[in-house]
Amino acid sequence: MKNLMNNFRLYAGVLRRISHTLTVGMLNADRRTSLLSLYHVYYKNNHSSDHTPIDPYIIPKTDVFELFGNDNAEYEGVYECGFGHTTEFELKVISNLVRKANPQRIFEIGTFEGRTTLNMALNCEANAEIITLDLPASELKATLMEIEDGEVRYVDKEVSGERFMGHAMSYKIKQVFGDSATFSFDEYKNSIDLAFIDGSHAYDYVINDTEKILSIMRPNGLIIWHDYTNWEGVRAAMNELYSNDLRLKNLKHIGGTSILMLQL
Ligand SMILES: C[S@@+](CC[C@H](N)C(=O)[O-])C[C@H]1O[C@@H](n2cnc3c(N)ncnc32)[C@H](O)[C@@H]1O
Repeated sequence: MKNLMNNFRLYAGVLRRISHTLTVGMLNADRRTSLLSLYHVYYKNNHSSDHTPIDPYIIPKTDVFELFGNDNAEYEGVYECGFGHTTEFELKVISNLVRKANPQRIFEIGTFEGRTTLNMALNCEANAEIITLDLPASELKATLMEIEDGEVRYVDKEVSGERFMGHAMSYKIKQVFGDSATFSFDEYKNSIDLAFIDGSHAYDYVINDTEKILSIMRPNGLIIWHDYTNWEGVRAAMNELYSNDLRLKNLKHIGGTSILMLQL
């Protein structure tokens, strides 16, 4: 009974406020703003036929790189990121790491659309080379180890590397195809200055890809992993390697990103 009375009082209060807002309250700017918010929340949300966001994000972007003036890299499509991509900030971090490391030869596992590949190409020297490995969609069901269900959509695509195709930087990029568990890395032994591991996020693949990349690095190379905080398989595999494999004892997680890096 007490609850019923409380609810009645609450509804009566709300009704009184609404009546006021819809009449004399309209003369008050704050009340008009509250009404507009209510309209956005209740009317537009319930009547939008295509369920697109009500207000697109129209405010221009900036980030700590621009604000603090330590942005030395070049970018393309940095703000055009979606599922399966590095975030804008991560792409800037990777691009700056590439520029600082000045690698002659880069190896990437996991091309996808080639957004990171392209930005690495923009930030290495004219005679540098990037080899990017991708699993062809036709081999989706034939991998040596199991990939995660959630990453099938990144494999199952018509084109791999569309972001750099026809781009002025594409001459630096060599695409190779295969399953990272069976692909032969032999010809790249002791030749890679920087590697980006972003293929399958399944535990076994992260362990496999790390081992394969370690086998082709030059002594002072830099290895970068993506998705440490986004995929359980990456987290578990990298935690295990960090705890048990002395080669990874200097592994670092870059704050504000899902990126791990190891300076050999
Ligand atoms: C998340 S996407 C990579 C995103 C890309 N590195 C970027 O930064 O935009 C993962 C990619 O890894 C590839 N991949 C998945 N399993 C693989 C495997 N076993 N061997 C090689 N590539 C694999 C997928 O085809 C997909 O293109």
